[in-house]
Amino acid sequence: MDHYKLFIDGEFVDARDGKTFESIDPGTGLPFATVAQAGKADAEVAIEAARRAFDQGDWSGLEAAARAAKVYDFADRVMQQGLRLAVTESMDSGQVIGLAKFMPMLGSGLLRNLAYYASTQFPWEEEIPYSGNVFAPGRDFIRREPVGVCVGIIPWNFPMSMAFWKIAHAIIMGNTIVLKPASATSLSALIIADCAKAAGIPKGVINIIAGPGGELGKVLCTHPYVDKIAFTGSTEVGREIMRMAADTVKKVTLELGGKSANIILDDADMDLAVEGACFGTFFHQGQICESGTRVLVSSKIYDEFIDKMQKRAERLRVGYQLQPTSHLGPLVNEIQLATVERYVKLGKEEGAEMVTGGKRAEAPGFKGGFYYAPTIFTKVKNKMRIAQEEIFGPVVGVIKFDSDEEAVATANDSMYGLGAGVFSSNHARAERVACGVRTGTVWINNYHAFGDFCPFGGYKQSGVGREFGQSGLSEYTQVKRMHVAYFADRESNFSMNILRDSNKVLSFQYHCPTNVVAGHGSLAAIYKEIVNLGCRRALILTDPGVRKAGLAQLAKDALVDFCVGMFDSIAQDTDLDTVDAATAMARDLKADCIVSVGGGSVIDTAKAVCVTLKNGGRANDHIALFRLTEPQTPHIVIPTTSGTGSEVTNVAVIKSKIAGRKVYIVDGRIMPNTAILDPRFTMTLPPGLTATTAMDAMTHAVEALTSTLSNRICDGQALHAIRLIGENLPVVVGDGKNEKARLNMQIAATMAGWAFTIAQVALVHAMAHTLGVLHNIPHGAACGIVLPKVMRFNVDHAADKLTKVAQALGVNTAGMDDRKSALAAADAVEDLMKKAGHPMRLRDLGVSEQSLGICAFHAIADTPSLFNARPVNDPGEVLEIYKQAY
Ligand SMILES: NC(=O)c1ccc[n+]([C@@H]2O[C@H](COP(=O)([O-])OP(=O)(O)OC[C@H]3O[C@@H](n4cnc5c(N)ncnc54)[C@H](O)[C@@H]3O)[C@@H](O)[C@H]2O)c1
Repeated sequence: MDHYKLFIDGEFVDARDGKTFESIDPGTGLPFATVAQAGKADAEVAIEAARRAFDQGDWSGLEAAARAAKVYDFADRVMQQGLRLAVTESMDSGQVIGLAKFMPMLGSGLLRNLAYYASTQFPWEEEIPYSGNVFAPGRDFIRREPVGVCVGIIPWNFPMSMAFWKIAHAIIMGNTIVLKPASATSLSALIIADCAKAAGIPKGVINIIAGPGGELGKVLCTHPYVDKIAFTGSTEVGREIMRMAADTVKKVTLELGGKSANIILDDADMDLAVEGACFGTFFHQGQICESGTRVLVSSKIYDEFIDKMQKRAERLRVGYQLQPTSHLGPLVNEIQLATVERYVKLGKEEGAEMVTGGKRAEAPGFKGGFYYAPTIFTKVKNKMRIAQEEIFGPVVGVIKFDSDEEAVATANDSMYGLGAGVFSSNHARAERVACGVRTGTVWINNYHAFGDFCPFGGYKQSGVGREFGQSGLSEYTQVKRMHVAYFADRESNFSMNILRDSNKVLSFQYHCPTNVVAGHGSLAAIYKEIVNLGCRRALILTDPGVRKAGLAQLAKDALVDFCVGMFDSIAQDTDLDTVDAATAMARDLKADCIVSVGGGSVIDTAKAVCVTLKNGGRANDHIALFRLTEPQTPHIVIPTTSGTGSEVTNVAVIKSKIAGRKVYIVDGRIMPNTAILDPRFTMTLPPGLTATTAMDAMTHAVEALTSTLSNRICDGQALHAIRLIGENLPVVVGDGKNEKARLNMQIAATMAGWAFTIAQVALVHAMAHTLGVLHNIPHGAACGIVLPKVMRFNVDHAADKLTKVAQALGVNTAGMDDRKSALAAADAVEDLMKKAGHPMRLRDLGVSEQSLGICAFHAIADTPSLFNARPVNDPGEVLEIYKQAY
């Protein structure tokens, strides 16, 4: 008799205590080999070897391609040993030789396929284009790394395949493994170890220990050196493994039992379906976890189907497994034979009708052995134990159904969820049924078809995790998130500010790509700009007021034949429905660019349309911060107010009826491609709107200048914007047709937009948003009223900046200290507002005094308050500001 030794740390060794056991040929019941029987000490030595090998990095530290090269050698050695492997496997497990002869080739192919995938396509490193944390600028990426020491525990039904599956996944991904085959069927795994050794897989990477599951399993599943357990076997043992693994929180993947439904619809090809039902359940004596052991047959074809299935089952040849003519070999051992007999008896007792089989079988020319005849039960009810419990033998129960829905419900009425089959000549119908079945695999017009790149695993109590393909390989890796901050000093870290008294952030990233064309008649640039963007079909977005003022028509004329339509149903403070309506029109007209002509409401609608057009779906799908990774639909803006600066900003502010508030898209990718600042487009703006929109721009500038993210580029823009507004606002409210002053106001609004896009806005905006949401107060008006009060609130935290505001507004600060001149800045803003006829108090806009408390709470939770120069955490302080503005 051949003797097989354990494979530990690169050597074949006997058990430390010298114990051995016999391997029995299930076709004869006679022993034909002896195997070293590992005990606790051997398991520990194997685990230590695997740990050492992993930690040394000779294998785990290699590039995937270098590992793949070795694995290809390993695969070649498997092919060299193919005949030995096939015959041994057949004798050891009872697998018919007609099947076993393919197993080395499949194993070798698996090694090659997975190694190739791991070294050429697996995402070992993956950039995360946007982290989703807007306060932590930096590079974010994922590294996938091996898990460490893996334990593979495998069953007796497909010993060689299972050994390949576990070894291949583990080592290809850089792990080391201790594999424990079932004691009844240990031999093929030990031959595979021989192949690995010959190929030079480093010692300790693969270790094989044969022996009793209970004793060895306990060591393998509890040892602190083990990082992961991959188990294939019964659900009962799977549960126990999970429990054992819990103490050291090992990663666990489980491929467990099944009671899979093979659904035969009434339109199935009868011969194919009969073959599929027999193959699905009698293949390899039914000892397969995902066997279709519940055959669900439509009542319309039931009788004919049973008749044919019975005849087909009776033509199957049971025989010694090495006989080339045998379709079915023996069951693996006497215990399994007894289990099958017990279930057959139970089926009869439960009232199922046995139409064939139900007895042991003889292998012609052989004495002994554990053979059983293919057995079919009909009149099976799904609640019977033979329909709920795994038998693991050539026994199938047929269940009748009347509708597709009933078939799906019956298939799902199981604690298992491993496999299923659907036979039908209508693929759409079959797919509908397949989608309803809750299992890890569904075959349509096929069964037992595996693929190296197709994930396999179970729903429900059939398992955890998947094997094969990217999903399977991923189970053998850990995910490491890596973050490299852009900036490397304490003062540049936004989040760490929480522990500091100063919340000023020094670093910044300036990205303002909009092409600005400004000046009298600059509208003429629009044609060329569209050509430069590679577009031909512009949709104009505007609002009724702007259209009435004749401005949209001006733009249309300038576009000549590039305009495909005009959407003008945009209300003030636009909403998501409007964006969807405009997007639908753009889709209908096949628009390839958007031209927005209007104030912030129109421009923001257009920004959201560009995102929705590019990415599909509805506007609400795209409400997010910094999530876009590609250029959006081209967008040219012609602003008609001088307030929001939206023509250059990275924000779109849209009302959501469902959320009951304004929601935002914030992203560098939504900054318009071109902004045309032609003063003719603002000359029709009435004085009231001129004043309130100007105060919106003023607030952008003052807040960008004083915010915790203020920076030297934006400071310059903000101060110049403040100066221009101070000088030109009184002029334009007096003389709306003063073109030079109008252009200066436009430039100021655009610069303020650039400044706040990078440096952010602060408490004034938080308070104004609140007034807009709770009281419908126009944004510019609310900003204006609150701004001077907040400037005074911030005086001790931004005195130097506010002094510059005062100077930009023409205040002579000579002889004043910073505090005084900062307060003078607030006074100067109020003077300017009065000159411009801007509303001065909230009470004049219909806000009730009692509501101010709620407003205060709302405002401190609004994001811009985060960036205020003076930290705002106390709603009492904000209430005080609201009262001053009241
Ligand atoms: N995206 C950003 O960066 C940003 C910044 C601040 C504010 N906003 C948003 O912008 C919106 C406010 O925009 P807005 O202040 O520009 O006002 P608006 O676009 O809502 O327009 C206000 C009114 O002015 C009329 N109008 C505009 N231009 C005109 C002209 N030249 N002649 C005659 N009438 C004209 C319009 O028809 C409209 O009735 C708000 O929804 C606000 O949330 C966006």
